[in-house]
Amino acid sequence: MGAELVIFVGLQASGKSTFFRGRFAATHEHVSKDLFRNNRNRNRRQGQLVEAALRSGRPVVVDNTNPTVEDRRPLIELGRQFGARIVGYHFDSGVRECLARNARREGKARVPDVAIFATAKRLAPPSRAEGFDELYRVRPNGGAFEVRAC
Ligand SMILES: Nc1ncnc2c1ncn2[C@@H]1O[C@H](COP(=O)(O)OP(=O)(O)OP(=O)(O)O)[C@@H](O)[C@H]1O
Ligand SMILES: [Mg+2]
Repeated sequence: MGAELVIFVGLQASGKSTFFRGRFAATHEHVSKDLFRNNRNRNRRQGQLVEAALRSGRPVVVDNTNPTVEDRRPLIELGRQFGARIVGYHFDSGVRECLARNARREGKARVPDVAIFATAKRLAPPSRAEGFDELYRVRPNGGAFEVRAC
């Protein structure tokens, strides 16, 4: 199997990390800016980790909000450079839903509501035209996830 780069797109508390744990943790590397919060240049660090995974042929998931085309473009370019299959998952939950799920989170996992509003303002749904080989829409549904190709 060739390399694979999976890019998540979605608001805070849309279920990305939960979906990662259920579906990818056993097979894919996990790259998330939450895992290097104290790094000065988190974008650069993220790129380095994604590149290292692709270079050694390990499938990798970028678990961040990745709200804009500009956030995704360098990742997609990196994937292409290494001939990886590029797969997108759009966690298509609205602000109200995410605020509610965020309110039920504990401690550090809970983000300020304003962060969800700010991401929602910038979020541009991903499209195949950006260079995704496969694209899915994901919605949390009664503790499980509904996934549809788009
Ligand atoms: N399928 C689901 N059904 C119901 N609740 C869910 C589901 N998936 C996740 N949740 C709950 O929603 C909250 C947010 O989930 P999660 O931490 O996975 O979101 P996230 O998108 O990774 O957020 P962040 O961008 O802030 O890291 C958690 O409290 C989680 O328990
Ligand atoms: Mg998360």
